[in-house]
Amino acid sequence: MSIDVQSILSHGVAATDAALDRLLPAATTVPISIHSAMRHSVFAGGKRLRPVLAMQAAAAVAGAVPAGVERLGAAIEMLHTYSLIHDDLPALDNDDLRRGKPTCHVVYGEAIAILAGDALQTQAWEVLSELACPPAATVRIVRLMAQAVGTVDGMIGGQVLDIEGEQQKPTAELVDAIHRAKTGALIRVSVVAGGVFAGADEAQMIALDTFGRKAGLAFQIVDDILDVTQDSAQLGKTAGKDLTSEKATWPAVFGLEQSERDADRLIGEAFEALAIFGKRADGLKAIARYLVERKS
Ligand code: IPE
Ligand code: IPE
Ligand code: MG
Ligand code: MG
Ligand code: MG
Repeated sequence: MSIDVQSILSHGVAATDAALDRLLPAATTVPISIHSAMRHSVFAGGKRLRPVLAMQAAAAVAGAVPAGVERLGAAIEMLHTYSLIHDDLPALDNDDLRRGKPTCHVVYGEAIAILAGDALQTQAWEVLSELACPPAATVRIVRLMAQAVGTVDGMIGGQVLDIEGEQQKPTAELVDAIHRAKTGALIRVSVVAGGVFAGADEAQMIALDTFGRKAGLAFQIVDDILDVTQDSAQLGKTAGKDLTSEKATWPAVFGLEQSERDADRLIGEAFEALAIFGKRADGLKAIARYLVERKS
């Protein structure tokens, strides 16, 4: 595969960041506190993997990254950043480091951090409603996104299971359900929405959905592995946190070696799902490989 993953990532980050900067209110817009807080967390240095997945899924369908998909990526990143701000709150994971910076509530206080998360979510729906694709595709993307963020097998439901799973002996079934929902659902919908944006047919949609489901689970398994194997400086967030919080993680249930094998196997299976795209999916495959090889 002669694909330069670093150049896909850097172009994706630049396009996403430029769109986010255009779409978010300026830090000087009143009320200044909340707009500063939103920008603090959004521009703290995220990897932008979900937007890049959406862009590369769209490219697998269209043959090249279509114009306007960066706004879809920006909306996804707003939803993701909202989830991180709330995930770090004292009532949830109680973290003070995120993306290498003090967390939103540490800098702006809990009230503004809660509202900044709410505001990023609200802003995301506005951006999604104005996507540069046919109205039926826009409505489909909004519905899929809302389901992926929601409580039934979605991100919020997964966060509930994650919090309620603390200090219980985790089972394979529980950790699978948590990971598919709290993280897998947003990754999966990023890929699928990229396909809808680019006008994917039914067979392409099924392929992207399978890919997104497998890659999404692999992504959270790797997040759990990195929590154990890396330090806070490398991660930009507090390392070793899952153990102290007694979280239901993949390594806690299966051990580190099995976790690494599972992530690799899932990415292999994810690749197989992309066969119908031929070389057009090389970018998507490169990013999926990066998901499991990353060190932060
Ligand atoms: C972290 O996601 C939160 C999880 C869902 C595991 P990322 O590892 O994509 O975090 P950023 O966006 O790069 O900060
Ligand atoms: C976060 O899972 C998932 C969401 C924010 C929805 P984690 O709690 O494992 O994420 P990190 O490790 O804090 O980034
Ligand atoms: Mg959490
Ligand atoms: Mg957390
Ligand atoms: Mg984690």
